[in-house]
Amino acid sequence: MNNVFNVIRHRRSIRKFKHKDIPQKYINKIISAAHLAPSAGNQKNWEFIIIRNNKIKEDLKKAVIDRIDSISLKMNSRHAKNEIISYARYLTFFNEAPVVIAVVAKPYDSLTGRLLKRYEPNVNHVSSAGIQYVAAAIQNFLLAASALRIGSCWMSGPLVAKEKLEEILSIKAPDDLLALIPLGYADKKIKPHTWPKSLDGILREIT
Ligand SMILES: Cc1cc2nc3c(=O)[nH]c(=O)nc-3n(C[C@H](O)[C@H](O)[C@H](O)COP(=O)(O)O)c2cc1C
Repeated sequence: MNNVFNVIRHRRSIRKFKHKDIPQKYINKIISAAHLAPSAGNQKNWEFIIIRNNKIKEDLKKAVIDRIDSISLKMNSRHAKNEIISYARYLTFFNEAPVVIAVVAKPYDSLTGRLLKRYEPNVNHVSSAGIQYVAAAIQNFLLAASALRIGSCWMSGPLVAKEKLEEILSIKAPDDLLALIPLGYADKKIKPHTWPKSLDGILREIT
């Protein structure tokens, strides 16, 4: 399954995992693939934290559940409460995987920002590049995992409890937790994607 188009088609979000560990050499290969992603100025300002420790995984899950509970307590509508509680699994299943990877964005020193600060300090320049490069690294990560037949799921939902998660993982500002990614062998076979029949609505040519 090494053809890149095949790997892209077979990568699916996996939410149920076998109780089977992942050898460290595969994790290293996946992180190495993430590290080859493009980044502005080639700064590669990302960090990956590996969590195998069950107690830490439980603490992370508890932080998310506590946060969901405290949000739902503030809600007046029963329907809204039920909806957020029924969605909770999508924010918390990560701890069922043998390995969880936390993805951290380190501060990004934009070249354009630096030049503007020096020569045009009045120009308000906000760049989204910092998020873009980490997203590229995460996508490399997911594809590499998939090529090794290891299941994963990009999860930003748990960030509802971002502050507490960062405390547990000793992530200190300006570093920024962007995602949790559970890694494990899929519990059951998931259908690969099929190619889109048409690109109407997502591709337009300007002439
Ligand atoms: C930035 C981002 C955040 C996501 N967060 C979650 C999440 O918190 N929980 C979850 O179950 N899936 C999450 N997903 C996975 C999406 O639901 C999934 O990619 C989408 O449904 C398409 O399915 P596929 O990945 O199998 O192609 C996230 C995906 C992205 C790109």
